[in-house]
Amino acid sequence: MADRPRVLVTRMIPDAGLDRIRAHCDADIWLNARPIPYDTLLRRVEGVGGMVCMLADRIDAAVMDAAGPGLKVISQYAVGFDNIDVAEAARRGIPVGHTPGVLTESTADMTFAMMMAIARRVPEGIEYVRAGKWRTWGPTLFMGRDIHGATLGIVGLGRVGKAVAERAAGFKMRVLAYDPTCTEEEAAGVGAALVSLEELLRAADFVSLHAPLTSETRGMIDAEALAAMKPGAYLINTARGQLIDQAALTQALQNKQIAGAALDVTDPEPVSARDPLLAMNNVIVLPHIASASVATRDRMAVMAAENLLAGLKGKALPNPVRDD
Ligand code: DGY
Repeated sequence: MADRPRVLVTRMIPDAGLDRIRAHCDADIWLNARPIPYDTLLRRVEGVGGMVCMLADRIDAAVMDAAGPGLKVISQYAVGFDNIDVAEAARRGIPVGHTPGVLTESTADMTFAMMMAIARRVPEGIEYVRAGKWRTWGPTLFMGRDIHGATLGIVGLGRVGKAVAERAAGFKMRVLAYDPTCTEEEAAGVGAALVSLEELLRAADFVSLHAPLTSETRGMIDAEALAAMKPGAYLINTARGQLIDQAALTQALQNKQIAGAALDVTDPEPVSARDPLLAMNNVIVLPHIASASVATRDRMAVMAAENLLAGLKGKALPNPVRDD
C-alpha cells in the first residue's frame, strides 16, 4: 500500500515492538543473528522513511545519505546511542529516539548479580561442581570477598548508577560516586557521597561503571586509574567496553594489581574467544545482557516502535535523544 512507509529494522527485536511496526509499515527486517554488515546496511537503507537500529550499527552521515531525503527518523533499540552521529542527524533535522528509563532496574540488578558472582566466586564454584571435583565441605573452599559492608564506587550517577546506589543501601555498603554532572544533594538522595575519581578509585572495594561513552569518558579507566585502585578491589562494567583500556586491565589483572573484573561489555564486542581475560578465574565476561530480561526488552521494543511511528508521522518522538 502506498501510504505504508518503508522502514528498515536492523535485527529481530521482540514481537511487542515488531508487531506495532508491521501493523503500520512495510518493514524490511534483517533476520540474521549477527549485525547487518555496513555495506549491506547502506544498500538496504536506501529510500526508507525510518529505521530501527541497534548499538552494533554505525549510523553515520553515509548511512543518512544512503537513506536519502525521505529519512524521517532514526530509532535506537537501546538507551546508549554512541553508535549514532547524533549531531549529523540534528544538522539534517532527523530526530533520533532511544529507550531511556525502562532498562534502569534490570541493568542495576545485573550489576549486583555480577558483583556478587565475581566476589563470591560463583562461576568458579559452579564449574568445580560440574567437573565432579566436589568431594566434601571445605573449611577454606572458594573463600571470597563480602559485599555487605564494603565500599562501592559508582562512576556515573545517572539513572542506572542511582539504581545501583539504592540497592547498595540494602547491603549496608558505603557508597561513593563520581559524576561531574551531579549535585551533592542528588547524590545524597540515593545515599551516595560525591568524591573525585581519584578518591573513589583509592577507596572503593568495588568500582562500578555507569557513565555514557563520550569523548571525555572513553578510556577513563586506563593504566593510571587501575594503578590507583586498591589491590583487593573489583571492577564491574555494565556500561560500555570503551570506558576501559582493556589491554591495561588485562595487565593489571595479570600483575594482580586488582582482585578481579566482571564485564558485561567489552572492547570490541564480541570479545575474541582467545582473549586472555577469558582464561582468568577472577574475570567474568558476559555477552552484553545486563538489560536482557524479557519484560525490559519487550518495553524497549515498544519504545523503539513508538519513536519510529511518531517520527514517520512527523510528530515529536516520545523519547528523543538529548545530546548534552
Ligand atoms: C543500552 O541500552 O544502551 C544497553 O547497553 C543495551 O541494552
